[in-house]
Amino acid sequence: MTAAYSKQDIIAELTVPIAEIAKCYPTQRSVIMPALYLAQETYGFLDETAYRAISEILEVPEIWVFELASFYTLYKNKNIGKYNLQLCTNVPCMLRGAYDLFAHLQTRLGINKGETSKDGLFTLTAVECIGSCDVSPAMMVNDTYYTNLSKERVDKLLDQLSQADTDPLTGNEQ
Ligand code: FES
Repeated sequence: MTAAYSKQDIIAELTVPIAEIAKCYPTQRSVIMPALYLAQETYGFLDETAYRAISEILEVPEIWVFELASFYTLYKNKNIGKYNLQLCTNVPCMLRGAYDLFAHLQTRLGINKGETSKDGLFTLTAVECIGSCDVSPAMMVNDTYYTNLSKERVDKLLDQLSQADTDPLTGNEQ
């Protein structure tokens, strides 16, 4: 879900679930990452409002939340497209054609790194290793892995994702 939200909305909605999560962790600081993820799952993306709300809920300095949210690519720090294409460009993937694939995606979508297509469907990012080096090149689309990619497979995937009423993201590795 993508929605505008206020700090008070987040505090009202997430204080109890975050307190439940916190029972599994030794310190408030270690709860920041799952709290960020929960906020992202709830609101679709994260911004400074969400960071401040989480800081307040956990009673930790804002900078702790900001630095974690800006470091990890799993956190969406703006209102991104429906499908977040995260192509790995680390060495094993690069050796198996990730740079060519990235250029292909840029051309096909008409966007550069970090941008979102005009139709709001796709955001393109380059990420560090996503743990699928043995089946590289690899890409995550939201939370789903796509591996052994080629230009043909990427084109087919984009065609599927572009079709209205079709969402092939099943959570299964392909
Ligand atoms: S280097 Fe690309 S998945 Fe590991």
